[in-house]
Amino acid sequence: MPVSPDNVSAPARRSVLAAGIAGAGALTLAACGGGSSSLTPPKPKAGQHVATLDDIPVGQAISAQLDGDPVLVARPTKSTAACFSAICTHQGCTVRPQGAKAFCPCHGSVFDALTGKVLQTPAPSPLHAIPVEVKNGEVVATPTG
Ligand code: FES
Repeated sequence: MPVSPDNVSAPARRSVLAAGIAGAGALTLAACGGGSSSLTPPKPKAGQHVATLDDIPVGQAISAQLDGDPVLVARPTKSTAACFSAICTHQGCTVRPQGAKAFCPCHGSVFDALTGKVLQTPAPSPLHAIPVEVKNGEVVATPTG
């Protein structure tokens, strides 16, 4: 006999509904699985190469890797650089730079890619800054405290 809303008992309908809700939760978790499992920013060694300044358009940011962790490397002015963990402070997805902003694909947070500041929630805090400086046209890590 085909199953239709008329011949399914109330408990059976509740089970189907519960399974649907559980499935939606699993999809949500899977969507958040694209980022690193750690919200801790990478801690590079002083002098470690991060990017080449000329690879970054002035006023924008690019994606890079630092010890295997995704980072954003920004060039706020012609001769300065900034670096941030690309791990969203909401639930850990990897944000993607586009111009002077960085977008999280999971729940829509938007960051200022030049400062790390939250422009649109739900991210609760700015991207973690990674201290860098420019030396001979290269963006390198600076010593941390
Ligand atoms: S992980 Fe939720 S907005 Fe980025």
